[in-house]
Amino acid sequence: APPALLDSLGRPLRDLRISIIDRCNFRCTYCMPKTVFGRDYPFLPRAELLSFEEIARIARVFAGLGVNKIRLTGGEPLLRRHVEGLISQLAEIPGIDLTLTSNGSLLPQMAPSLAAAGLKRITVSLDALDDAVFRRMNDVDFPVADVLDGIEAAAAAGLAPLKINMVVKRGTNDDQILPLAEHFRGSGHILRFIEYMDVGSTNGWRMDEVLPSREVIARIHERFPLEPIDPNYPGEVAERWRYRDGAGEVGVVASVTQAFCRDCTRLRLSTEGKLYTCLFATDGHDLRALLRRGAGDAELAAFIAGIWQGRGDRYSEIRHAATPAARKIEMSYIGG
Ligand code: GTP
Ligand code: 5AD
Ligand code: SF4
Ligand code: SF4
Repeated sequence: APPALLDSLGRPLRDLRISIIDRCNFRCTYCMPKTVFGRDYPFLPRAELLSFEEIARIARVFAGLGVNKIRLTGGEPLLRRHVEGLISQLAEIPGIDLTLTSNGSLLPQMAPSLAAAGLKRITVSLDALDDAVFRRMNDVDFPVADVLDGIEAAAAAGLAPLKINMVVKRGTNDDQILPLAEHFRGSGHILRFIEYMDVGSTNGWRMDEVLPSREVIARIHERFPLEPIDPNYPGEVAERWRYRDGAGEVGVVASVTQAFCRDCTRLRLSTEGKLYTCLFATDGHDLRALLRRGAGDAELAAFIAGIWQGRGDRYSEIRHAATPAARKIEMSYIGG
């Protein structure tokens, strides 16, 4: 692999998260509340979106700069028309671990074609096992059974091991921690619990709705004893735990109570081609303008390298000192 590019805090550039669509068929209250993302919400017009050719070209430039993992996100990435066409182009780039984060709603139909296009694995968001709680969280009355079918379809298509992400909101779905743990124990899929974060400025985030990951682990441990295991790679976002009885592992993403900025190797590319150096950044760097002006690969690489080398973001470590009213980008726009 090419030598890593280091930012101003010495962190290597390793992961690129690409948001390929700003729309979603869910309205999760913590991400796209209906009051804001209503019928008249101005989603990006088609011409503003990076084309598959543009995305693939940018991805190749990133691979040349040492990136070894690309994750497609949204909104809901499977809503982008013929996403398989993009996946097959990205799957051809040597040295890139390609994956995708989805709400799972379209997986029952799409899992086989995604695997055939060259996708190797997938992460599915799932906030409850109980149907009523799930419908309330996605706020479009989507049944949990269809997402569970999607997870099975993905596993059957070979997109395994799957990761399942649960965003935990105290008082809203924390009673689903044990049911989900029990459901996925022994399945081979890896369930991860994510602390509810203050991304964007529309979800009305409050610290008292965050259930610290320590408590999640304590609750599971009481019922199914756990022990910690080492990270798969330096800078892994989720902290790993395994069931002592051999029924597999779970993870926690403690981005609020145990910030992991120190090892953050991620850069984010928005649907319209802006680069963001942090999930909590306020402004992006317009890569699309450069691209559409006819820049060559070397010029793109130099632009990206300059942005990364100047990067000093560590929002989660300084969150409490940051101004609460700060203008931040929305999760549905930058893809988490
Ligand atoms: P793998 O290690 O390949 O499983 O990927 P991942 O855990 O980085 O990806 P995923 O999209 O599953 O992320 C899990 C959760 O962690 C999501 O809610 C993300 O928004 C959150 N997350 C991922 N990267 C960051 C980050 O850089 N900062 C913060 N604060 N949260 C992050
Ligand atoms: N806090 C934590 N995780 C969030 N996600 C979306 N919004 C938030 C939030 N406010 C999650 C999604 C998905 C991942 C990409 O980010 O549920 O699993
Ligand atoms: Fe859609 Fe995911 Fe946001 Fe829910 S969290 S509204 S599924 S993008
Ligand atoms: Fe990286 Fe920003 Fe998240 Fe810290 S808050 S881990 S710098 S994306």
